[in-house]
Amino acid sequence: MRTSLLTEITGLSSENDLEKIKGNINKIISEVSSSKQKDFIVSENGSSSSVNKNFLLNELNQIKHSRTLGRTQYYIKRLIRGLTKNKTSKLNDINLNRWKEYDDIITDSLWIIEKRDKSGVHKADYWGNFIPQIPNQLMRRYTKKGDWILDPFAGSGTTLIECKRLGRNGMGIELIPIVAKRAKENLSDEKNPFEIKTTLKTGDSTSIDFKTQLDKEKIKSFQFFLFHPPYWDIITFSKRKNDLSNAKSINDFIKMFGGVADRTYPLLDKGRYCAVVIGDKYSSGEWIPLGFYVMQEMIKIGYKLKSTIVKNFDTTKGKMSQKELWRYRALAGGFYIFKHEYIFLFQK
Ligand SMILES: C[S@@+](CC[C@H](N)C(=O)[O-])C[C@H]1O[C@@H](n2cnc3c(N)ncnc32)[C@H](O)[C@@H]1O
Repeated sequence: MRTSLLTEITGLSSENDLEKIKGNINKIISEVSSSKQKDFIVSENGSSSSVNKNFLLNELNQIKHSRTLGRTQYYIKRLIRGLTKNKTSKLNDINLNRWKEYDDIITDSLWIIEKRDKSGVHKADYWGNFIPQIPNQLMRRYTKKGDWILDPFAGSGTTLIECKRLGRNGMGIELIPIVAKRAKENLSDEKNPFEIKTTLKTGDSTSIDFKTQLDKEKIKSFQFFLFHPPYWDIITFSKRKNDLSNAKSINDFIKMFGGVADRTYPLLDKGRYCAVVIGDKYSSGEWIPLGFYVMQEMIKIGYKLKSTIVKNFDTTKGKMSQKELWRYRALAGGFYIFKHEYIFLFQK
Protein backbone atom coordinates (compact mmCIF):
# COMPACT_ATOMS: atom_id res chain seq x y z
CA MET A 1 0.00 0.00 0.00
CA ARG A 2 1.22 3.51 -0.68
CA THR A 3 2.42 4.96 2.60
CA SER A 4 0.27 8.01 1.86
CA LEU A 5 -2.93 5.97 2.14
CA LEU A 6 -3.17 6.43 5.88
CA THR A 7 -2.67 10.18 5.38
CA GLU A 8 -5.35 10.13 2.69
CA ILE A 9 -7.84 8.38 4.98
CA THR A 10 -6.91 10.62 7.88
CA GLY A 11 -7.57 13.62 5.60
CA LEU A 12 -11.06 12.30 4.88
CA SER A 13 -11.94 12.28 8.56
CA SER A 14 -12.16 16.07 8.54
CA GLU A 15 -13.89 16.30 5.16
CA ASN A 16 -17.53 17.42 5.28
CA ASP A 17 -18.54 16.68 1.71
CA LEU A 18 -20.05 13.18 1.74
CA GLU A 19 -19.89 12.83 -2.07
CA LYS A 20 -16.21 13.73 -2.10
CA ILE A 21 -15.48 11.22 0.68
CA LYS A 22 -17.33 8.44 -1.19
CA GLY A 23 -15.46 9.29 -4.43
CA ASN A 24 -12.10 9.03 -2.68
CA ILE A 25 -13.08 5.84 -0.85
CA ASN A 26 -14.13 4.26 -4.16
CA LYS A 27 -10.73 5.09 -5.64
CA ILE A 28 -8.96 3.52 -2.65
CA ILE A 29 -11.19 0.41 -2.85
CA SER A 30 -10.36 -0.20 -6.50
CA GLU A 31 -6.67 0.34 -5.82
CA VAL A 32 -6.68 -2.17 -2.92
CA SER A 33 -8.90 -4.70 -4.78
CA SER A 34 -6.73 -4.76 -7.87
CA SER A 35 -3.53 -5.28 -5.87
CA LYS A 36 -2.13 -8.81 -5.72
CA GLN A 37 -0.85 -8.27 -2.15
CA LYS A 38 -2.57 -10.13 0.69
CA ASP A 39 -1.15 -7.82 3.35
CA PHE A 40 -0.31 -4.15 3.21
CA ILE A 41 2.23 -2.17 5.18
CA VAL A 42 0.98 0.87 7.03
CA SER A 43 3.60 3.33 8.23
CA GLU A 44 3.16 5.97 10.86
CA ASN A 45 5.80 8.04 12.68
CA GLY A 46 8.61 5.80 11.51
CA SER A 47 7.02 2.55 12.69
CA SER A 48 5.14 0.21 10.41
CA SER A 49 2.70 -2.67 10.74
CA SER A 50 0.91 -4.93 8.30
CA VAL A 51 -2.80 -5.01 7.60
CA ASN A 52 -4.77 -7.78 5.97
CA LYS A 53 -6.40 -7.00 2.59
CA ASN A 54 -9.79 -8.49 3.50
CA PHE A 55 -9.94 -6.48 6.71
CA LEU A 56 -9.11 -3.31 4.79
CA LEU A 57 -11.69 -3.95 2.07
CA ASN A 58 -14.34 -4.80 4.64
CA GLU A 59 -13.81 -1.54 6.49
CA LEU A 60 -13.62 0.54 3.30
CA ASN A 61 -16.86 -0.99 2.03
CA GLN A 62 -18.57 -0.22 5.31
CA ILE A 63 -17.54 3.42 4.86
CA LYS A 64 -18.75 3.34 1.24
CA HIS A 65 -22.19 2.03 2.19
CA SER A 66 -22.84 4.25 5.21
CA ARG A 67 -25.57 6.78 4.51
CA THR A 68 -24.95 9.79 6.74
CA LEU A 69 -21.89 11.98 7.15
CA GLY A 70 -21.80 11.20 10.90
CA ARG A 71 -21.80 7.46 10.33
CA THR A 72 -19.22 7.73 7.52
CA GLN A 73 -16.85 9.67 9.73
CA TYR A 74 -17.41 7.22 12.58
CA TYR A 75 -16.28 4.33 10.31
CA ILE A 76 -13.34 6.36 8.97
CA LYS A 77 -12.15 7.04 12.52
CA ARG A 78 -12.62 3.38 13.40
CA LEU A 79 -10.47 2.38 10.42
CA ILE A 80 -7.76 4.87 11.39
CA ARG A 81 -7.79 3.40 14.94
CA GLY A 82 -7.56 -0.10 13.46
CA LEU A 83 -4.58 0.91 11.34
CA THR A 84 -2.67 2.79 13.99
CA LYS A 85 -3.65 1.58 17.47
CA ASN A 86 -3.10 -1.83 18.96
CA LYS A 87 -5.81 -2.74 21.48
CA THR A 88 -5.02 -6.01 23.25
CA SER A 89 -6.12 -7.66 26.47
CA LYS A 90 -3.88 -9.16 29.16
CA LEU A 91 -4.53 -12.62 27.72
CA ASN A 92 -3.42 -12.58 24.10
CA ASP A 93 -2.05 -10.51 21.22
CA ILE A 94 -5.33 -10.21 19.33
CA ASN A 95 -5.70 -6.60 18.21
CA LEU A 96 -9.31 -5.88 19.10
CA ASN A 97 -9.28 -2.80 16.87
CA ARG A 98 -8.95 -5.26 14.00
CA TRP A 99 -10.97 -8.16 15.38
CA LYS A 100 -12.52 -8.87 12.00
CA GLU A 101 -9.11 -9.83 10.70
CA TYR A 102 -9.04 -12.99 12.84
CA ASP A 103 -11.72 -14.90 11.00
CA ASP A 104 -9.87 -18.20 11.44
CA ILE A 105 -10.00 -18.01 15.24
CA ILE A 106 -12.87 -20.16 16.47
CA THR A 107 -15.22 -18.63 19.03
CA ASP A 108 -17.99 -21.28 18.90
CA SER A 109 -18.11 -24.18 21.33
CA LEU A 110 -18.47 -26.71 18.51
CA TRP A 111 -15.24 -27.32 16.61
CA ILE A 112 -15.55 -29.15 13.32
CA ILE A 113 -12.07 -29.39 11.90
CA GLU A 114 -12.05 -31.50 8.75
CA LYS A 115 -8.36 -31.72 8.02
CA ARG A 116 -5.33 -32.17 10.25
CA ASP A 117 -2.57 -29.60 9.72
CA LYS A 118 0.28 -31.69 8.32
CA SER A 119 2.50 -28.80 7.36
CA GLY A 120 6.24 -28.84 8.04
CA VAL A 121 7.34 -31.22 10.78
CA HIS A 122 3.77 -32.00 11.93
CA LYS A 123 3.09 -35.67 11.36
CA ALA A 124 0.11 -37.87 12.09
CA ASP A 125 2.18 -40.95 12.89
CA TYR A 126 2.07 -40.83 16.71
CA TRP A 127 -1.02 -42.75 17.67
CA GLY A 128 -2.94 -40.57 20.08
CA ASN A 129 -1.54 -37.19 19.08
CA PHE A 130 -3.93 -34.30 18.69
CA ILE A 131 -4.34 -32.17 15.62
CA PRO A 132 -2.05 -29.11 15.70
CA GLN A 133 -5.04 -26.82 15.29
CA ILE A 134 -5.95 -27.50 18.96
CA PRO A 135 -2.80 -25.98 20.52
CA ASN A 136 -2.73 -23.35 17.75
CA GLN A 137 -6.26 -22.10 18.47
CA LEU A 138 -5.84 -22.22 22.24
CA MET A 139 -2.47 -20.48 22.35
CA ARG A 140 -3.60 -17.68 20.07
CA ARG A 141 -6.62 -17.02 22.30
CA TYR A 142 -5.02 -17.53 25.71
CA THR A 143 -1.35 -16.60 25.46
CA LYS A 144 0.91 -13.79 24.32
CA LYS A 145 4.21 -13.96 22.48
CA GLY A 146 6.96 -14.83 24.95
CA ASP A 147 4.61 -16.56 27.43
CA TRP A 148 5.55 -19.98 28.85
CA ILE A 149 3.33 -23.00 28.14
CA LEU A 150 3.47 -26.34 29.97
CA ASP A 151 2.37 -29.59 28.31
CA PRO A 152 2.76 -32.40 30.90
CA PHE A 153 1.76 -35.14 28.41
CA ALA A 154 3.87 -34.01 25.48
CA GLY A 155 3.80 -37.16 23.30
CA SER A 156 5.11 -36.31 19.84
CA GLY A 157 5.55 -32.63 20.77
CA THR A 158 2.68 -31.09 18.77
CA THR A 159 2.27 -28.29 21.32
CA LEU A 160 5.96 -27.45 21.24
CA ILE A 161 6.01 -27.26 17.45
CA GLU A 162 3.13 -24.79 17.61
CA CYS A 163 4.99 -22.87 20.33
CA LYS A 164 7.86 -22.33 17.89
CA ARG A 165 5.52 -21.18 15.14
CA LEU A 166 3.62 -18.79 17.39
CA GLY A 167 6.53 -17.40 19.38
CA ARG A 168 5.64 -18.90 22.77
CA ASN A 169 8.11 -20.69 25.04
CA GLY A 170 7.19 -24.28 25.79
CA MET A 171 8.03 -27.02 28.26
CA GLY A 172 6.91 -30.57 27.58
CA ILE A 173 7.15 -33.65 29.80
CA GLU A 174 6.87 -37.11 28.29
CA LEU A 175 7.12 -40.39 30.18
CA ILE A 176 8.44 -42.68 27.45
CA PRO A 177 12.11 -41.99 26.60
CA ILE A 178 11.95 -43.11 22.97
CA VAL A 179 8.83 -41.01 22.33
CA ALA A 180 10.51 -37.97 23.91
CA LYS A 181 13.68 -38.57 21.90
CA ARG A 182 11.83 -38.74 18.59
CA ALA A 183 9.77 -35.68 19.46
CA LYS A 184 12.94 -33.73 20.30
CA GLU A 185 14.58 -34.69 17.01
CA ASN A 186 11.49 -33.72 15.07
CA LEU A 187 11.16 -30.45 16.97
CA SER A 188 14.75 -29.50 16.17
CA ASP A 189 13.84 -29.57 12.45
CA GLU A 190 11.21 -26.87 12.98
CA LYS A 191 12.43 -23.31 12.42
CA ASN A 192 12.49 -20.95 15.37
CA PRO A 193 11.65 -17.57 13.85
CA PHE A 194 10.86 -15.88 17.18
CA GLU A 195 13.89 -17.36 18.95
CA ILE A 196 11.87 -18.80 21.79
CA LYS A 197 12.83 -21.72 24.01
CA THR A 198 11.28 -25.17 23.84
CA THR A 199 12.38 -27.96 26.15
CA LEU A 200 11.14 -31.51 26.14
CA LYS A 201 12.01 -33.59 29.18
CA THR A 202 11.68 -37.29 29.72
CA GLY A 203 9.88 -37.58 33.02
CA ASP A 204 6.85 -38.65 34.99
CA SER A 205 4.38 -35.81 35.41
CA THR A 206 2.82 -37.52 38.43
CA SER A 207 6.08 -37.13 40.38
CA ILE A 208 8.44 -34.70 38.61
CA ASP A 209 9.36 -31.57 40.55
CA PHE A 210 7.94 -28.91 38.26
CA LYS A 211 9.41 -26.13 40.42
CA THR A 212 12.95 -27.38 39.74
CA GLN A 213 12.17 -27.42 36.02
CA LEU A 214 10.98 -23.81 36.26
CA ASP A 215 14.14 -22.81 38.12
CA LYS A 216 16.26 -24.39 35.38
CA GLU A 217 14.58 -22.11 32.86
CA LYS A 218 14.97 -19.16 35.24
CA ILE A 219 11.25 -18.47 35.21
CA LYS A 220 8.77 -18.23 38.07
CA SER A 221 5.53 -19.43 36.53
CA PHE A 222 3.63 -20.53 33.45
CA GLN A 223 0.95 -18.63 31.59
CA PHE A 224 -0.89 -21.61 30.07
CA PHE A 225 -1.19 -25.36 30.62
CA LEU A 226 -2.32 -27.77 27.95
CA PHE A 227 -3.21 -31.19 29.34
CA HIS A 228 -3.70 -33.98 26.81
CA PRO A 229 -3.55 -37.10 28.98
CA PRO A 230 -4.20 -40.65 27.77
CA TYR A 231 -7.93 -41.30 27.57
CA TRP A 232 -7.34 -43.89 30.30
CA ASP A 233 -6.71 -47.24 28.55
CA ILE A 234 -8.13 -46.51 25.09
CA ILE A 235 -4.52 -46.50 23.85
CA THR A 236 -1.92 -48.16 26.05
CA PHE A 237 1.22 -46.08 25.61
CA SER A 238 3.59 -48.26 27.64
CA LYS A 239 3.78 -50.92 30.33
CA ARG A 240 5.01 -48.44 32.96
CA LYS A 241 2.87 -48.28 36.07
CA ASN A 242 3.10 -44.48 36.26
CA ASP A 243 1.67 -44.24 32.72
CA LEU A 244 -1.91 -42.93 33.04
CA SER A 245 -3.00 -45.40 30.37
CA ASN A 246 -2.14 -48.19 32.81
CA ALA A 247 -4.32 -46.93 35.65
CA LYS A 248 -6.00 -49.93 37.27
CA SER A 249 -9.42 -48.38 37.59
CA ILE A 250 -11.27 -45.21 36.70
CA ASN A 251 -10.65 -43.94 40.24
CA ASP A 252 -6.96 -44.62 39.82
CA PHE A 253 -6.92 -42.74 36.53
CA ILE A 254 -8.68 -39.71 37.99
CA LYS A 255 -6.35 -39.79 41.00
CA MET A 256 -3.26 -39.84 38.77
CA PHE A 257 -4.57 -37.05 36.54
CA GLY A 258 -5.71 -35.08 39.60
CA GLY A 259 -2.22 -35.41 41.05
CA VAL A 260 -0.66 -33.77 37.99
CA ALA A 261 -3.29 -31.02 37.90
CA ASP A 262 -2.95 -30.39 41.63
CA ARG A 263 0.83 -30.14 41.64
CA THR A 264 0.96 -27.83 38.63
CA TYR A 265 -1.87 -25.54 39.86
CA PRO A 266 0.39 -23.24 41.97
CA LEU A 267 2.66 -22.66 38.95
CA LEU A 268 0.05 -21.00 36.76
CA ASP A 269 -0.33 -17.21 36.99
CA LYS A 270 -3.62 -16.12 38.54
CA GLY A 271 -6.22 -15.18 35.94
CA ARG A 272 -4.53 -17.29 33.25
CA TYR A 273 -6.07 -20.28 31.48
CA CYS A 274 -5.51 -23.97 30.98
CA ALA A 275 -7.19 -26.62 28.85
CA VAL A 276 -7.79 -30.35 29.11
CA VAL A 277 -8.30 -32.30 25.89
CA ILE A 278 -9.97 -35.66 26.52
CA GLY A 279 -12.55 -38.10 25.18
CA ASP A 280 -14.91 -40.60 26.81
CA LYS A 281 -14.86 -44.37 26.51
CA TYR A 282 -17.06 -47.46 26.60
CA SER A 283 -16.39 -50.26 29.03
CA SER A 284 -18.52 -53.45 29.13
CA GLY A 285 -21.37 -51.74 27.37
CA GLU A 286 -21.27 -48.68 29.63
CA TRP A 287 -20.37 -45.11 28.58
CA ILE A 288 -17.61 -43.92 30.93
CA PRO A 289 -17.66 -40.10 31.01
CA LEU A 290 -13.90 -39.67 31.49
CA GLY A 291 -14.13 -36.09 30.29
CA PHE A 292 -16.70 -35.11 32.90
CA TYR A 293 -14.82 -36.84 35.72
CA VAL A 294 -11.65 -34.97 34.78
CA MET A 295 -13.58 -31.71 34.51
CA GLN A 296 -14.97 -32.23 38.03
CA GLU A 297 -11.46 -32.87 39.30
CA MET A 298 -10.21 -29.57 37.86
CA ILE A 299 -13.08 -27.71 39.52
CA LYS A 300 -12.31 -29.43 42.85
CA ILE A 301 -8.70 -28.25 42.59
CA GLY A 302 -9.90 -24.67 42.32
CA TYR A 303 -10.19 -23.89 38.62
CA LYS A 304 -13.17 -22.04 37.22
CA LEU A 305 -14.76 -23.76 34.19
CA LYS A 306 -14.92 -21.29 31.29
CA SER A 307 -16.02 -23.45 28.35
CA THR A 308 -16.81 -26.98 27.32
CA ILE A 309 -15.87 -27.37 23.68
CA VAL A 310 -16.98 -30.36 21.64
CA LYS A 311 -14.61 -31.23 18.82
CA ASN A 312 -15.22 -33.70 16.02
CA PHE A 313 -13.10 -36.79 16.16
CA ASP A 314 -10.86 -37.99 13.36
CA THR A 315 -11.84 -41.41 12.12
CA THR A 316 -8.58 -43.34 12.18
CA LYS A 317 -7.66 -45.45 9.15
CA GLY A 318 -8.14 -48.68 11.11
CA LYS A 319 -11.63 -47.70 12.21
CA MET A 320 -12.53 -46.51 8.72
CA SER A 321 -12.19 -50.03 7.31
CA GLN A 322 -14.43 -51.32 10.10
CA LYS A 323 -17.03 -48.59 9.63
CA GLU A 324 -19.75 -50.98 8.52
CA LEU A 325 -19.09 -53.36 11.38
CA TRP A 326 -19.26 -50.56 13.95
CA ARG A 327 -22.49 -49.31 12.44
CA TYR A 328 -24.01 -52.76 12.68
CA ARG A 329 -22.82 -53.13 16.27
CA ALA A 330 -24.20 -49.70 17.17
CA LEU A 331 -27.60 -50.53 15.70
CA ALA A 332 -27.69 -53.95 17.31
CA GLY A 333 -26.29 -52.88 20.68
CA GLY A 334 -28.14 -49.58 21.04
CA PHE A 335 -25.12 -47.34 21.43
CA TYR A 336 -23.49 -44.49 19.55
CA ILE A 337 -20.11 -44.43 17.84
CA PHE A 338 -17.70 -41.87 19.29
CA LYS A 339 -17.35 -38.92 16.96
CA HIS A 340 -16.32 -36.23 19.42
CA GLU A 341 -13.92 -35.34 22.19
CA TYR A 342 -13.84 -32.45 24.65
CA ILE A 343 -11.70 -29.45 25.24
CA PHE A 344 -12.44 -28.15 28.72
CA LEU A 345 -11.23 -24.66 29.32
CA PHE A 346 -10.44 -23.36 32.81
CA GLN A 347 -9.26 -20.15 34.42
CA LYS A 348 -7.27 -19.90 37.62
C1 LIG B 1 -2.74 -38.44 24.41
S1 LIG B 1 -1.02 -38.54 24.37
C2 LIG B 1 -0.48 -36.89 24.09
C3 LIG B 1 -0.22 -36.63 22.64
C4 LIG B 1 0.31 -35.26 22.33
N1 LIG B 1 -0.66 -34.23 22.59
C5 LIG B 1 0.73 -35.20 20.88
O1 LIG B 1 0.13 -34.41 20.09
O2 LIG B 1 1.61 -35.97 20.49
C6 LIG B 1 -0.62 -38.80 26.06
C7 LIG B 1 0.85 -38.93 26.33
O3 LIG B 1 1.05 -38.93 27.76
C8 LIG B 1 2.14 -39.76 28.05
N2 LIG B 1 2.08 -40.11 29.49
C9 LIG B 1 1.33 -41.05 30.11
N3 LIG B 1 1.55 -41.03 31.44
C10 LIG B 1 2.44 -40.03 31.66
C11 LIG B 1 3.07 -39.52 32.84
N4 LIG B 1 2.84 -40.03 34.04
N5 LIG B 1 3.95 -38.49 32.69
C12 LIG B 1 4.21 -37.97 31.47
N6 LIG B 1 3.66 -38.42 30.32
C13 LIG B 1 2.78 -39.43 30.41
C14 LIG B 1 1.99 -40.92 27.08
O4 LIG B 1 3.19 -41.61 26.90
C15 LIG B 1 1.50 -40.20 25.81
O5 LIG B 1 2.58 -39.89 24.98
